Amino acid sequence: MTVPLGQPTVGEEELEAVREVFASGWLSGAGPTSRAFESELADAAGTAHALATSNCGSALHLAVKVLGAGPGDEVIVADYTFPATGHAVAWTGARPVFADIRPDIWSVAPDSVESLISPRTAGIIAVDVAGQPADYEELGAVAARHGLWLIEDAACSSGATYNGRPAGSLADIATFSFHGRKVITAGEGGALLTDNAAWDDRARKLHTYGTEPALGREGASALPIPTFGEVGHNYRMSDVLAAIMRVQLRKLPALVAARARAAASYRQLLGDVEEIVLPVELPDRAHAWQTYIATMAVGIDRDAVAMALRRDGIGCTFGTYASHLQGVYGHTDACPVSADVLTRHLAIPMHANLTETQIEQVAGAVRRAVRDPANRT
Ligand SMILES: Cc1ncc(COP(=O)(O)O)c(C=O)c1O
Repeated sequence: MTVPLGQPTVGEEELEAVREVFASGWLSGAGPTSRAFESELADAAGTAHALATSNCGSALHLAVKVLGAGPGDEVIVADYTFPATGHAVAWTGARPVFADIRPDIWSVAPDSVESLISPRTAGIIAVDVAGQPADYEELGAVAARHGLWLIEDAACSSGATYNGRPAGSLADIATFSFHGRKVITAGEGGALLTDNAAWDDRARKLHTYGTEPALGREGASALPIPTFGEVGHNYRMSDVLAAIMRVQLRKLPALVAARARAAASYRQLLGDVEEIVLPVELPDRAHAWQTYIATMAVGIDRDAVAMALRRDGIGCTFGTYASHLQGVYGHTDACPVSADVLTRHLAIPMHANLTETQIEQVAGAVRRAVRDPANRT
């Protein structure tokens, strides 16, 4: 592929950090390097606590567990998302109920959420789709009116803001992903952020099999034997990955700025192409540009355009998933907006290493492909 869809920005500094953690001798999770990363991440997001996890799915699972949902409960979940969001609810025995999205920025529509609230509803999970925060003011008001909790699935929005507040601080609990295609990455990884000390404490134990992490026993004068209060999981991030994440977090503002420059170039080069709608940026929020999604006008064959781009060496894919159409959840809520954009979204290359020449190459290929009469439905 001449221009890859996504690409991590990692190099010598991350390698040096890995050398240092090797030398320290503490490679497993919940160690000193993870604690340092957690403290820096909480500072960056403006939350009281951050917990480093194995991935975003495990952070979401912990979040739903500590906020309280299980068999017999329903959790209203933004439909247009990677199915980790719905899975995290299903893992607890609760039922995900999928709510339709806004047609412009594809995050969950607050009125759709409110229409689905039932006596069984325990909480709401919003998703910052492609890196732009959802409507937290309105969603927070819905949650407060009905006595529900609210989770921000910020898997894609590291570095974004909403009304000047950082993604990761916009709900009762937020979760990040540090998977290889995310804005900052250690290959895999995630985090859970909250201001609530009791939720952080319980999630911290649950992520280490239901007990206190070993770091707390370092240097103890006696031989305290930990007790297991709950059946937890191993959802820890290795300290090796935490070392990489500390470097990535320092780079975050520059990486988001590079992505924003690429987005601005796409707008300049493709803004006049009537066959596509470019992503909408709302003035009260700053986009992290984890994914750049163009929406094909009705009548353009998205799949044919994608194949044409791939023939030109341009990486591309669909947007994300319409969860309600995944048979695994065993039911089909009606989410027509999500079902529609699923067929019309095309993600084109977006990462912090894109050159202007590559952006021009992508824009030229997109312009040709969407205007080619062979690529009409
Ligand atoms: C919105 C959303 N939530 C959760 C996840 C799961 O992240 P992870 O792979 O870190 O578990 C993803 C991954 O793409 C995602 O996009």
